[in-house]
Amino acid sequence: MFKYNCLNPIAQVGLAKFDKNYENTENVAEADGILVRSAAMHDMELSDNLKCVARAGAGVNNIPLDKCAEKGIVVFNTPGANANAVKELVISGMLLASRDIIGSAKWVEANKDDENLAKTQEKEKKKFAGTEIAGKKLGVIGLGAIGVLVANAAIGLGMEVYGYDPYLSVKSAWSLDKSVKHVVDVNDIYKNCDFITIHVPLMDSTKNTINAEAISLMKDGVIILNFARDILCDEKAVLAGIASGKVRKYVSDFANPTTAGQVGCIVTSHLGASTEEAEDNCAKMAVDEMRNFLENGNIINSVNYPNCDMGVCSAKARVTICHKNTANMITKFTATFGDLNINIENMMNKSKGDYAYTIIDVADDINDDIITKLNSIDGVIKVRAI
Ligand SMILES: NC(=O)c1ccc[n+]([C@@H]2O[C@H](COP(=O)([O-])OP(=O)(O)OC[C@H]3O[C@@H](n4cnc5c(N)ncnc54)[C@H](O)[C@@H]3O)[C@@H](O)[C@H]2O)c1
Repeated sequence: MFKYNCLNPIAQVGLAKFDKNYENTENVAEADGILVRSAAMHDMELSDNLKCVARAGAGVNNIPLDKCAEKGIVVFNTPGANANAVKELVISGMLLASRDIIGSAKWVEANKDDENLAKTQEKEKKKFAGTEIAGKKLGVIGLGAIGVLVANAAIGLGMEVYGYDPYLSVKSAWSLDKSVKHVVDVNDIYKNCDFITIHVPLMDSTKNTINAEAISLMKDGVIILNFARDILCDEKAVLAGIASGKVRKYVSDFANPTTAGQVGCIVTSHLGASTEEAEDNCAKMAVDEMRNFLENGNIINSVNYPNCDMGVCSAKARVTICHKNTANMITKFTATFGDLNINIENMMNKSKGDYAYTIIDVADDINDDIITKLNSIDGVIKVRAI
């Protein structure tokens, strides 16, 4: 029997994935796993019983990742679970920027008492006319979970799509529509595209990716979309681009005093992942990750330990070890089993930064003595018998 604790309300469709071997506990100290959305965990006491934390969402800045890693607590997030929600908002952003739908709706509201509205609109509508997106060139910077969906949807809408991602994953490459043109120099996107959308993670190296220099290379009348993070764009440079006529519209999902209410800016209030479906997907994925880890010892989508997946154990028993990423660890593990004359049938070891994880399937039952011996190896953080 495993126990889990929810620090925030978690969508019911996710919790429904726990079977009879799981019990929800209000007492966080006895939980094997914690499900969390935005609750701050930095000052929380982490019990020795806690094995994992699953964040239903992508950002993990509310979780003390190092402190967890140090205690052998594996932290998961749910990358891609909200990608479709963001993709749909990006597509709507392109449409809102192409035609003055917002201006037209505001005009109708302001003239709602005009008895001749039906006639007046015919005179006024040219003010809100725009362009179509079919046939235009879209540049997608960052082809991860969101970027791939945006690129593929834009192909479906008749756009010519250029994609740039120097670290493209095999999964993304498989998922990408074959009509998307692969760009190796991001400047080619700046020089050629009518719409440019950015979907990279915020890191020191990606801050201000869209800066004055990049904008100077862009086509006149370019539309820039930012549904990733505001500081990926130098927004002062974007405003200067709007003032000079270089940039036609800037669409951002991150309200701040720089762009809110500014001419040429369409700004939403971080709505990207705010759909019922995205919350459900995150909850389902978080529970799947937690169950796979607690029941099989597999790590998929961890942010503080390496991914390490050996499927379901078909040997007699499985041992998992969270440990420091230092020399000779595997030799010491195999020697421990060798000394006890226990045959290792299968094993996997992966590392991520200072930490590593090993799964060992063996041909004999695991007893407390073996666990104690493995735990006593210098650098071992947590050992579990599955
Ligand atoms: N608006 C919202 O509510 C919302 C919701 C979810 C995510 N986001 C943002 O969107 C970003 C992307 O999300 P995702 O799920 O697609 O992430 P992801 O990790 O699946 O994809 C990111 C991609 O960017 C690529 N990349 C990294 N550095 C790059 C660079 N310098 N140039 C080009 N490509 C680069 C990576 O190789 C990866 O393919 C997130 O980091 C987050 O900030 C926003």
